[in-house]
Amino acid sequence: MAVMAASLIGGCGSNSTSAPSKNKIVVGTNATFVPFEFKDDKTQDYAGFDIELIRAIGKRINKDVEVKNVSFDALIPALNTHDIDVAASGMTITKARSEKVLFSSPYYENALAIVYKDNGNIHSLDDLKNKKIAAQMGTTGSDLANKIEGTTVKVFDHSNEALLELLNGGVDATVIDLPVAQYYSTKHPDAKIQILAYPNTKEYLGLAMNKDNKALQEQINKAIADMKADGEFNTLYKKWFNV
Ligand code: ARG
Repeated sequence: MAVMAASLIGGCGSNSTSAPSKNKIVVGTNATFVPFEFKDDKTQDYAGFDIELIRAIGKRINKDVEVKNVSFDALIPALNTHDIDVAASGMTITKARSEKVLFSSPYYENALAIVYKDNGNIHSLDDLKNKKIAAQMGTTGSDLANKIEGTTVKVFDHSNEALLELLNGGVDATVIDLPVAQYYSTKHPDAKIQILAYPNTKEYLGLAMNKDNKALQEQINKAIADMKADGEFNTLYKKWFNV
């Protein structure tokens, strides 16, 4: 009985006719976003909160997880063409994106931040007017940077490049997700950066799926709820965000 139930959940027993891919989810991520997703230098494997989250979800829903590195603005198109099943990439749940993809229940409360150098002479948002700002292509950070009056926005394929541009003096500020800025600043005190949490930019991050994948969305939401209930979510959260 237990064996039967397990193979039913998996959707594919050893003598099943289901396609093998039913037992696997292909997960797209843009692995330049520490501590959510990045390539670990030592292991050369993907690492970070989102990666561990989706791998833990995979175990719970009985599917192998294959991670693929995709540029951030190609994630939604890749979901729509079924090149990937899930985007786990610190993706903010927005209205515009919700028209194109399904989101899981929110798993992280996020905000945007302005990052600038110690000597940057930026004391308020007003000081950003007419400045040069870096952001990652296709992100809520680049949307925001474009809304500030008179800015020149330099967009980068990878979010770490947007931070590097600031450190190299190519821009006056970078708009990026607050936890990513905080993690960077804690790990690199010598970088001498300041972080201004951008007011009124509370956002939620979610895992994204194809619109036709309601079944997967339900499985993932249940797994997230179970992880929250039994403490696995909290352990993971502490590991990556209490730095
Ligand atoms: N949260 C922001 C957004 O959804 C940025 C996400 C960037 N993620 C990444 N893996 N580089 O637009």
